[in-house]
Amino acid sequence: MSKKPWAGRFTQPTDAFVEAFTASIDFDQRLYRYDIQGSVAHARMLARQGIITAGEAQTIISGLESILTDIEKGDFEFSVSLEDIHMNIEARLIERVGAVGGKLHTARSRNDQVALDIRLYLRDEVREVRSYLEQVQESLLEQAERNLGVIMPGYTHLQTAQPILFSHHMMAYYEMFRRDSERMADLLKRINQLPLGAGALAGTTFPIDREFVAEQLGFDGVTRNSLDSVSDRDFALEFCGAASIAMMHLSRLSEELILWSSADFHFIDLSDAFCTGSSIMPQKKNPDVPELVRGKTGRVYGNLISLLTVMKALPLAYNKDMQEDKEPLFDTIDTVKGSLKIFADMIAQMSIRADNMREAAARGFSTATDVADYVVRKGIPFREAHEIVGKTVRYCIEHDKPIEALSLEEFKAFSSAIEADIYDFITLEASVNSRRATGGTARETVAREISRARQERLQR
Ligand code: ARG
Repeated sequence: MSKKPWAGRFTQPTDAFVEAFTASIDFDQRLYRYDIQGSVAHARMLARQGIITAGEAQTIISGLESILTDIEKGDFEFSVSLEDIHMNIEARLIERVGAVGGKLHTARSRNDQVALDIRLYLRDEVREVRSYLEQVQESLLEQAERNLGVIMPGYTHLQTAQPILFSHHMMAYYEMFRRDSERMADLLKRINQLPLGAGALAGTTFPIDREFVAEQLGFDGVTRNSLDSVSDRDFALEFCGAASIAMMHLSRLSEELILWSSADFHFIDLSDAFCTGSSIMPQKKNPDVPELVRGKTGRVYGNLISLLTVMKALPLAYNKDMQEDKEPLFDTIDTVKGSLKIFADMIAQMSIRADNMREAAARGFSTATDVADYVVRKGIPFREAHEIVGKTVRYCIEHDKPIEALSLEEFKAFSSAIEADIYDFITLEASVNSRRATGGTARETVAREISRARQERLQR
């Protein structure tokens, strides 16, 4: 068993089960690179401030670099009795470079060290998540560009409402993922503050230079209160919150893809590569990927609630409870990255059935609002127009015909204001293209939004 760095005041060894129960090495080993990166910057600062000598710092830094190589080669055995990534690396350093390795932990505690590691790690991961979000946006944008002009039914209450462009629908999700990406960029500012230098909780008696460390590690600044620095996990919560919102968006899109790929809608075909079959029903092609992403949304929400609950009512400053921050955070990162990655590819490869979409848009009296708007333009108050068209629709239902199949005489029976030009206003194209104000579904309006989005992406 390796000797524990904190064993000094103890007379008895740790109970073996307690040791395994309290250890975090099984999951926090994924922080190794950041732990070493932080230690290198810390050692440089210690030497610069004359707290250790330049030679000592050099020995420590080369030792850390060789440990990094070992871990990367898979040549490092993590030990549960050394509890966590911080003590595993420090113990190995001392083993390798001798007692001088023990100087690395001067003016530092694992409490500020772990806060630093998570921030460094999450900073990289947020950048990755943003790049996956952009890939999803790109796939949506390409679908919107490729299919401009395809009309589908727009729904409210999942009942046919008004015809819209399929591209408009894709661009709705583009907007959601754009906001997700903005949220990630914004919370990155609060991640990117250096907590190191807080020590265990109260600061340090050594003449450290936190700004120098911050600069070395690419932080925007240093945290302002040592108690807060070691007990703050807001940045991780914010990330889990933003990730939950992104998963909610993916889940809504999943739901639509699942519906749309059913035989009843048949608006799209997902590529075989993203579906699976049934062991009993030979005809089945199941949309497993969107279903699973919809399901995984649950665990991401759960992770947010776990972390909020871990942090709830914790007294200042560090408490061991906080070791429970890592698994929910790591799982959130893995899940959201995986889900975005698979969606970027699946959306890109999805094929659409424009004929079925159009047919569905023509059903369900989707142009009824256009008839009402027409009557309003003839000077009739909207409420009256609504009543007139309601009755017209009822007549259509009773006679089993779509609105546009009514003769002018039939129309006139409901309102004498209706003229022969009504037919120009109630085609699917006319309905869609008349919604021209910013944000509407008119072809030219959607095309403008698509090119705005293209432009935005070129500028990035
Ligand atoms: N493994 C610990 C964690 O993840 C590191 C900090 C430990 N600090 C302490 N005082 N026990 O939170």
